[in-house]
Amino acid sequence: MLILGIETSCDETGVALYDSERGLLAHALHSQCALHTKYGGVVPELASRDHIRKILPLLRQIFKKSDTVPSEVQGVAYTRGPGLIGALLVGATIGHSLAWSWKIPAIGIHHMEAHLLAPMLESEPPKFPFVALLVSGGHSLLVEVKGVGKYQILGESVDDAAGEAFDKTAKLLGLPYPGGPSLSRLAEHGNPHRFSLPRPMTNRPGFDFSFSGLKTATINAWRVLEPTPDNRADIARAFEEAVVETLAIKSRRALKATNLNQLVVAGGVSANLRLRTQLRELTTESGVQVFYPRLEFCTDNGAMIAYTGCLRLAAGQFNERIDVLPRWPLDGLLSID
Ligand code: KG4
Ligand code: ZN
Repeated sequence: MLILGIETSCDETGVALYDSERGLLAHALHSQCALHTKYGGVVPELASRDHIRKILPLLRQIFKKSDTVPSEVQGVAYTRGPGLIGALLVGATIGHSLAWSWKIPAIGIHHMEAHLLAPMLESEPPKFPFVALLVSGGHSLLVEVKGVGKYQILGESVDDAAGEAFDKTAKLLGLPYPGGPSLSRLAEHGNPHRFSLPRPMTNRPGFDFSFSGLKTATINAWRVLEPTPDNRADIARAFEEAVVETLAIKSRRALKATNLNQLVVAGGVSANLRLRTQLRELTTESGVQVFYPRLEFCTDNGAMIAYTGCLRLAAGQFNERIDVLPRWPLDGLLSID
């Protein structure tokens, strides 16, 4: 079954062709980073317009790259939510229009489910059940995953998501958007022992996260310093260490509580190298296997949408109309047996 996937939930236009027998045939991505950087964050209306401009040229690219023609496509998957409403509507409208004209089904996919399943595209995928740590710009979630659509939320962020905390802190430190990668590049040169910032909510039971106070603590520590490159790097490192250690503590706790020994880490922050180093300790100390998507599929992409769409379309699920969900809880999706 050959499926076309379309991702337009935020500031990346991603498309891909996934085949249930042959795997991922082609994918292409356009990042709007340069468009939004001068505003210091995503401007929703500009994002929607840019998706419109880029999507058809990207589609032509993947058909060419995979030596496939549209008449071979058997289903279209697009991101239905959560995300920016205008951006989602572009993908949903194009997805449904193509499906109607090609007389094939279309399905709207939950963006975080697609992140969660992205490691399934790798050569050694995890096996259900597992714990998933989903850390993106909009969400921080710890989920017990028993199968496709069988998601129990163990914990989530009560305020800023992990990626959002990276982005906001980076902005306050005067770093360019997107803040996560730029802050973590700077942190590489920072001294991890100079400042110690709080590990929020780790000294009480449960799996929820809160990163907003940490952002404030970081900025308060930064404001009293001379704005030298060394000071900035040391503060960035202290912030990164605090986020990463907090995520590791909660993940370890979730694995213990569920008695599971596989951890999937996905979403933009899963590209963070310090996080990967910290989580490696889980493997050495307790044999937990940690799974990630390949680096380019940690952040938003069309491949994860095509893959998830393929599973759901193959199970007979589809959507008849354009109806996006800017807010959409992850638990409560239809499951597949
Ligand atoms: O999953 P994603 O591409 O989009 C959403 O679904 O939100 O995640 C984007 C987020 C941004 O907040 C970005 O700063 C963060 O992931 N990010 C990182 C890194 N790469 C991307 N955060 C920390 N370290 C990184 N290397
Ligand atoms: Zn995402």
